[in-house]
Amino acid sequence: MESNSEMAKLILGDNEYDLPVRIGTEGNRAVDISKLYGATGHITLDDGYANTGSTMSTITYVDGENGILRYRGYPIEQIARQCDFTETAYLLIYGELPTSDQLEQFRDNIRHHTLLHEGMKGIFAGFPPYAYPMAILSSVVGTLAIYDKGVVGDPADPDQTDLAIYRMMAKMPTIAAYSYKQSIGQPFIYPQNHLSYCQNFLHMMFAVPSEKYQMEVDFVEALNVLLILHADHGQNCSTSAVRMVGSSNVNLFSSISAGICALWGALHGGANEACIRMLEQIYHDGRNLQKYIDKAKNPDDPFRLMGFGHRVYKNYDPRATIIKEVCHRLVEKYAANDPLFEMAQALEEVAVNDSYFVERKLYPNVDFYSGIIYRIMGIPKNMFTVLFALGRLPGWIAHWREMHLSGGSRIHRPRQLYTGHTEREVIPLIKRQ
Ligand code: SDX
Repeated sequence: MESNSEMAKLILGDNEYDLPVRIGTEGNRAVDISKLYGATGHITLDDGYANTGSTMSTITYVDGENGILRYRGYPIEQIARQCDFTETAYLLIYGELPTSDQLEQFRDNIRHHTLLHEGMKGIFAGFPPYAYPMAILSSVVGTLAIYDKGVVGDPADPDQTDLAIYRMMAKMPTIAAYSYKQSIGQPFIYPQNHLSYCQNFLHMMFAVPSEKYQMEVDFVEALNVLLILHADHGQNCSTSAVRMVGSSNVNLFSSISAGICALWGALHGGANEACIRMLEQIYHDGRNLQKYIDKAKNPDDPFRLMGFGHRVYKNYDPRATIIKEVCHRLVEKYAANDPLFEMAQALEEVAVNDSYFVERKLYPNVDFYSGIIYRIMGIPKNMFTVLFALGRLPGWIAHWREMHLSGGSRIHRPRQLYTGHTEREVIPLIKRQ
């Protein structure tokens, strides 16, 4: 990024400092403080990084004020309508929409790696039946660094990273589906490489050896859209975790495993499951919407409206708009009068007209309606966030790759403002009361 004429002035005591202002391609601006500490001995402080950019990136543009989301410049609405998930993954990772030859080659590279090493099945057997699929997913993805010994070397080596990317993209659905099968005590279903990415995942999830699995085309299409909508979202918590861990030059698999752990939290990717549990709680509590709206507004009550609000979107999350439409179609065909969908719409209606939510610009986010779709597809609640991870995988990979291709990003090592004790003498234990 070229420096530009704009400068910001910082006045500290009697000193004035000029800080360059970086201007992004959409006119978004950043005061570059890369040299601040060296010049002033000061750092900045920003709880939760709400005002801090950790990097420059060309992958995804999110305009929270106007509810805009673009992958490599393409509006999410167009991609969701015209592309499939592997095409979107290619776009995010390599920067351009693939030609049909490039896409077929990418799909073929992935197909070659969908199987897990047979030894890995023993890892699944070691988990108790109640093991949480997100915990299994992060653990088993981490062990890919053991079984894929040939590609855990230099992240800057394009051949090694491409092979690691194919393997990571290929094995995530298999690991995810095996996590589910393990949790219900059913035999693993091997990947079928004549199937598409989404078909293969649903087949591994729901097929059983004793009978032919009848796949609903609507569910394959819905999954395809959901994975696309979850594919990337800039420097969110889990992507920042992948970049942070990856900045130490550790391999891709270990970096992705860290992202999975970050995504699991109920404030992040875990919100889709938390939202359904919240809707079920409200339903069983007599559908008293106002009671829960009041709880969400009460500063002394830890209850929050799950699937609502966003650090960046201060307008309707464009992904929620698309998901709501998909939800409507599936509910009409497969779950007419689904009480949770009706209640979710009523809850949204009450909330978006309540001054508390309006003043704080809280709208439904990507997690508010997605769980209703998963539920109709027969996906169990403890697998909802696993599907979020499946969707977010190409975004994580794209950011990890961008960081290493951009001339080797520095290891991420924030500073801190120390507010603990000043120096003091140790009192020997024998004298301590
Ligand atoms: C995702 O970053 C990304 O891009 C994430 C994501 C992605 O694609 O990667 O979009 C995916 O994680 C979506 C968010 C899923 N999480 C939830 O739905 C959980 C519920 N939402 C909230 O916990 C919250 O809105 C966050 C975590 C999403 C955002 O938190 P922030 O930006 O730190 O906002 P905040 O907690 O400072 O809230 C500001 C105010 C507070 O009230 P006041 O202190 O001003 O009185 O809004 C209130 C909050 O109490 N508030 C809510 C609320 N969300 C914010 N009050 C009730 N219910 C909510 N859901």
